[in-house]
Amino acid sequence: MPLNTMCYSFSLSTLTLLLLFPSLASLNTTNAKKQPPNNMLPSEAETLFKIMESMSSDQVWRISHPNPCQPGSSWPGIECKSAQDNHLHVTRLDFGTPPNPTCKNKATFPSQILALPYLQSAFFFNCFTHTKTTLSFSKIGESNSSLQQISLRSNPALTGPIPPQISSLKSLQILTLSQNRLTGQIPVTIFSLNSLVHLDLSYNMLTGTIPSQVGNLKNLVGLDLSYNSLTGSIPVTVGQLGLLQKLDLSSNSLTGAIPDSIEKLNLLAFMALSNNKLRGHFPRGLAKLQSLQYFIMDDNPMNVPLPVEFGDLVKLQELRLANSGYSGTIPPSFSQLMNLSTLSLQNNRLSGEIPAGFGSLPRIYHLNLSRNLLSGVVPFDSSFLNRLRRNLDLSGNPGLCLSPSVAYRMKIGVSVCGSNKTSGSVIQPLKSQAPSGLISISFFLFVPWGLLGLHQILFPV
Ligand SMILES: *[C@@H]1O[C@H](CO)[C@@H](O)[C@H](O)[C@H]1NC(C)=O
Ligand SMILES: *[C@@H]1O[C@H](CO)[C@@H](O)[C@H](O)[C@H]1NC(C)=O
Ligand SMILES: *[C@@H]1O[C@H](CO)[C@@H](O)[C@H](O)[C@H]1NC(C)=O
Ligand SMILES: *[C@@H]1O[C@H](CO)[C@@H](O)[C@H](O)[C@H]1NC(C)=O
Ligand SMILES: *[C@@H]1O[C@H](CO)[C@@H](O)[C@H](O)[C@H]1NC(C)=O
Repeated sequence: MPLNTMCYSFSLSTLTLLLLFPSLASLNTTNAKKQPPNNMLPSEAETLFKIMESMSSDQVWRISHPNPCQPGSSWPGIECKSAQDNHLHVTRLDFGTPPNPTCKNKATFPSQILALPYLQSAFFFNCFTHTKTTLSFSKIGESNSSLQQISLRSNPALTGPIPPQISSLKSLQILTLSQNRLTGQIPVTIFSLNSLVHLDLSYNMLTGTIPSQVGNLKNLVGLDLSYNSLTGSIPVTVGQLGLLQKLDLSSNSLTGAIPDSIEKLNLLAFMALSNNKLRGHFPRGLAKLQSLQYFIMDDNPMNVPLPVEFGDLVKLQELRLANSGYSGTIPPSFSQLMNLSTLSLQNNRLSGEIPAGFGSLPRIYHLNLSRNLLSGVVPFDSSFLNRLRRNLDLSGNPGLCLSPSVAYRMKIGVSVCGSNKTSGSVIQPLKSQAPSGLISISFFLFVPWGLLGLHQILFPV
């Protein structure tokens, strides 16, 4: 739909969004400058008044701003643009958090938004909190929706299934239905929305399997289905998502192995599969994931040796593989990961020595090898130990010992070589914790595409 653009009100989140998704802000101001736009169409204004009256009692909308799109008198949370018909049209509605209109207790999902033909984005954050409501797209068909983005986040009273009719929103690029109480299966029809760039259904109560049709979303950059109750295996077709940069399937009940097809995702920077029931093996072409910076896969019954190929993923910054039954030795190839800042291998059955090269990992900041069967002399000098301090945890490896030359003052949960367990020189295991702030920072630095999703991981509401 050709829009000559004039934006009259920008909320902070609008700006954030424009920064994140500049494509949504394809500004064309030429015509609007030539001919100042006049009013809204009465029918569109009436639809808007009805939506506002049903949603928010912050103001008597109809009276306080009879021309809601007019420059200078516009409502908070609304954005209008003039189109070629020389009328002003609502292009964005934003509810739930000040300065945007707050939602009243009786607010329910306003399917009338679909009757606003120029509406491009709609946001409902922390809006449906009291009155149970469901998603409904029944107004589709009455007009063509221009919706490119719908975001419903943190709405505890939003229940029921995702209606299959959502597939009528053909222009959707960003669909965020996170931190609600949605139930039922992911409708297969959602995967016919082939303009989708970001799909986030995280933190709901969705069940069933991940449909293989997910592979149809060829434009997908971010896929987040984390924190649901999804079962079955990761579909092989995920490998068709050639533009994917972020894949988060953590905290479901997924079974089977990571499909080999995943090796085709050569733009993938963030992959999180923690807290599922995935078992070995790793994809043969794991080393092809050359963009991978974050591989987060704690808490799965993998029960295989660690693949040496992780050492080829030179962009890795975080590698988390705790609590997953890994056995055998830690591959020395891991010492090639020059950008690695976090390595979590605790609570496995890893044996043998700590690779000597670990002591010269230049960026390592957080290293947890606790509760394994590691043995031998810890290959770290005192400057390394000083640098990591409380972020180093080697406790719970009875066979490990620390060279007496570096042992003094260090509390990393390892005894000094040659001393008796019972003697006074044993250094007690330290119950240290990862400083959560540091983890947040490292997540935060990784963003441009997935700020919202990551934010939810870190700060689940
Ligand atoms: C802006 O709109 C005018 C008139 O519709 C069109 O001729 C021009 O190509 C557009 N410019 C851009 C950058 O889209
Ligand atoms: C919807 O779009 C189709 C195809 O662009 C068009 O043929 C139809 O007239 C539109 N319907 C309405 C109600 O605008
Ligand atoms: C490692 O990180 C630095 C700084 O962030 C970056 O410039 C460099 O490209 C990274 N190296 C690799 C192999 O990704
Ligand atoms: C270790 O303990 C044994 C018996 O308790 C003792 O005989 C031996 O001298 C101790 N060795 C060291 C190095 O403390
Ligand atoms: C290492 O992992 C253990 C077990 O999960 C945890 O209790 C400990 O706090 C961790 N140590 C550090 C330094 O993160």
